[in-house]
Amino acid sequence: MVPPESPNLKKIVAEAAVNHYVKDGMAVGLGTGSTAEYAVRRVGELVASGYELTCVATSLRTEKLAVEAGVKVSDLSDVDHLDVTIDGADEVDPDLQLIKGLGGALLREKIVAAATVREIIIVDESKLVQKLGTKSPLPVEVIRFGHARTKYAVERQGCKATIRATDGKPFVTDGGNYVYDCAFESIENPFFLESRLDVIPGVVENGLFLNTAYAVLSADREGIVTRIERGGVREILKP
Ligand code: 5RP
Repeated sequence: MVPPESPNLKKIVAEAAVNHYVKDGMAVGLGTGSTAEYAVRRVGELVASGYELTCVATSLRTEKLAVEAGVKVSDLSDVDHLDVTIDGADEVDPDLQLIKGLGGALLREKIVAAATVREIIIVDESKLVQKLGTKSPLPVEVIRFGHARTKYAVERQGCKATIRATDGKPFVTDGGNYVYDCAFESIENPFFLESRLDVIPGVVENGLFLNTAYAVLSADREGIVTRIERGGVREILKP
């Protein structure tokens, strides 16, 4: 017997988010990563159907994908604000605090999120954790100059930091920086940790996205999407 095909959770949750939150005429932030890619493609379908959207990309990779999907991409500096941004995450805790950046776009993602009225996070349920730092390392973007010294200052915050590399060479972000992936046993106080990381010379940005998510949409293994809003609304979205 052929086993039933498992649902594509990333596609399901991404399309549910675009269908629920993106309206004609909006300014929309386009996230980065394998889940956000499906949202970009769905935005492309809306544009093809006649929606007029102003879109800003959170990475060069997303910008390329958006253009391929027929979506014109604007510069964030030319936009007053974004009504909604749809982006992925690496971990989501019960207070909707996040770790992002395994896709390497944390700096632009944080700048775009700060310009956004409603930041919508799309994940499958494997990303839901009780405490941040328990499944995913925390990405920290650093200036290349003196990066090994910056690493020591980061490690003093209680983690083991490993430079991100591809094919034996350090991964370079869209901003021209390196990323250290910082393994914690768990992050007990994300706000305190963020305040410590923010003052280390050489640290450009960290992957803690605190009080940033307006809502998280999460798909369970059957493909049922639950929407959790910061204000307490919790509902199952109809497919
Ligand atoms: C990129 C990100 C991504 O949103 C995050 O890594 C999740 O990616 P994916 O949907 O591929 O699991 O923060 O910087």
